[in-house]
Amino acid sequence: MAKDNDAVGLDRMLVLEVARVTEAAAIAAAKFCGRGNEKAADKAAVDAMRHELGRVSLRGTVVIGEGEMDEAPMLYIGEEVGNGTGPEVDIAVDPLEGTTICAKKMPNALAVLAIAERGGFLHAPDMYMDKIAIGPGYPEGIIDLDAPVGENLAALAKAKGVPVSNLTACILDRPRHAEIIRAVREAGAGVQLIPDGDIAGVIWTTDPAETGIDIYLGSGGAPEGVLAAAALRCIGGQIQGRLMPSNDDEIARAKKMGVSDIRKKFKLEDMASSDVIFAATGVTSGSLLSGVKLSGNSAETETLIMRSKTGTVRRIKSRFSDIGHMLAQSRD
Ligand code: FBP
Repeated sequence: MAKDNDAVGLDRMLVLEVARVTEAAAIAAAKFCGRGNEKAADKAAVDAMRHELGRVSLRGTVVIGEGEMDEAPMLYIGEEVGNGTGPEVDIAVDPLEGTTICAKKMPNALAVLAIAERGGFLHAPDMYMDKIAIGPGYPEGIIDLDAPVGENLAALAKAKGVPVSNLTACILDRPRHAEIIRAVREAGAGVQLIPDGDIAGVIWTTDPAETGIDIYLGSGGAPEGVLAAAALRCIGGQIQGRLMPSNDDEIARAKKMGVSDIRKKFKLEDMASSDVIFAATGVTSGSLLSGVKLSGNSAETETLIMRSKTGTVRRIKSRFSDIGHMLAQSRD
């Protein structure tokens, strides 16, 4: 793929198109915020994202999606999306990242999508991935998924020129993370626990002065790991991940999706290996993005959209005067 040729790579015009897609998904999900119904919120986001993707000039294949063809009716892995013209791309979607936080109207639910040149994403199966991530500006390789937590924190503190006690790690609040949390605290650093949403958790590491988060640690979804890698490819930073299959079936699944070495420690460039465009629209308000503001038939959204080729990071605030029309179309 010719990296320097926009005509065959990721055209800059796609940036706005991609933002429209996550905006539509976020607005659709927002209708269900606080209603306690994860499935309905997720379905609304999926429907809207798929409908809007169908209007974009690209020939896309979903490689990170809602599940395999027999499990997900829409945006399943392998589904062809786009209007059938334009560049051939691979697509990673998470129409509603944080279904539970949306259902409970808690902070940081997002609609997320990333596009890569064909072959540019790791085809990560839906299983856990062990992850470690930091933001930009540090020497390559100062963190290592296989190193003890205390060593990673010491290396990061040294590179940052601060004591370990100045660092904060973001970790999903799960019983399985008890040992990591203990190790972080024992090393003298702080822990910010999050109820869900580790794509945002990784992105927060890219701006510690603003977010107070220096490092992301722990296991979460492998698809979310690939989406987080896509974001870091645009904004800078380091991430490593290793699949955590829990049985033979998951190992077979990973192999079927092209993962030959199940123990491989994937780096950023293994998970997002080509130019990418990454977009996230806030569904509920959080420290990454404002959520959808609904008012009658109108809505406002905030979207983070980034392009790795140029490193451009945009925040787009949009106002929609007729969301009824948008939502009806996505249900047709
Ligand atoms: P969903 O939106 O699919 O519920 O995912 C939310 C999430 O918190 C992800 O951000 C994270 O990667 C994963 O779930 C962690 O999984 P688990 O809830 O099983 O610990």
